[in-house]
Amino acid sequence: MDSLWNIVTRSQGFSAQEDDPPRQQTTQHSKMDVATQAFKNADSYDSARKGYPINSAKLFLSKLQETPKQFNGNNNKDRTILELGAGTGQFSKVLVEATKETDFTVVSSEPLESMGKVFRKSLPNVELICCSGDKIPLPDSSIDAVVAANTLHYLANVESFTEIARVLKPGGILAFVCNYVDIQKVPWAQAIYDLSAKFYSRVGIKLSFDENGITNDWEKMALNTGFYQKVQKDFFFHSDNITEEETVRMFMSYGAFYHCDETEREDVRSTCENILKENYSGAGKTMTEIPMRCSLYWMEKK
Ligand SMILES: C[S@@+](CC[C@H](N)C(=O)[O-])C[C@H]1O[C@@H](n2cnc3c(N)ncnc32)[C@H](O)[C@@H]1O
Repeated sequence: MDSLWNIVTRSQGFSAQEDDPPRQQTTQHSKMDVATQAFKNADSYDSARKGYPINSAKLFLSKLQETPKQFNGNNNKDRTILELGAGTGQFSKVLVEATKETDFTVVSSEPLESMGKVFRKSLPNVELICCSGDKIPLPDSSIDAVVAANTLHYLANVESFTEIARVLKPGGILAFVCNYVDIQKVPWAQAIYDLSAKFYSRVGIKLSFDENGITNDWEKMALNTGFYQKVQKDFFFHSDNITEEETVRMFMSYGAFYHCDETEREDVRSTCENILKENYSGAGKTMTEIPMRCSLYWMEKK
């Protein structure tokens, strides 16, 4: 690891404190407000989420290994992956594990101090810098790949797509990992995702799902910037061990359900509890797992 990362980390620090006004540009204000509110209690977020299967990172890496020679460089050494919106480090854990025997270096980033604190405790040896997707404190064309997990809805905007393109090397990869409940297998989850889309839409975050995963207009938006090409998609199914009660906690940790008042949040909680009861305990079934679909979207910087 060269000293660039240490310099950036020292000079930037975490400045998006919970009480600070957000520093983003106007169009990003409300979205950052949502994130600040939603991820204030990072320990609770971290314990409510089930994490990522190692195959999510392996799938991403396998796509990187397939990238053209000029991107891989002469000897595949010193390639850097920048992770955006790393949160408490749930995807970073599997990413670091999957890159252990490779020549990739992982640098994670996160805009919120609340999440960064938990990240540092959990992954003290992983480089963490403070930034949002629309203001990355790194030089032009310095990064081989950018990846973000369950953060596409926060990054699908022209400012972030443009800034990410600036730091990526030509031929570099921008990838999104989206790990959500597989609504094809448990259609009862659709109502909960519809609710989350409703609350996100209040702050201009477009989030919709179909059988192929996230369908907001990120793809068109990214291509329209003129910086990217060759959008590709892949996915795999897996499942998480989880109880009915834990499933309610998992849904309630979604950022969307913090952008509402207390009464609305409690209504969402009751809706989740009722849906789960109807499908499990109330129907004489014990919930032990939930089917998940992990999608990978990636594109190439021109
Ligand atoms: C749902 S969490 C996902 C965190 C982590 N990747 C994971 O999978 O557990 C979304 C993360 O995106 C971060 N975030 C929100 N807006 C962002 C932005 N504009 N740029 C970068 N990260 C952002 C939030 O602070 C939060 O940590």
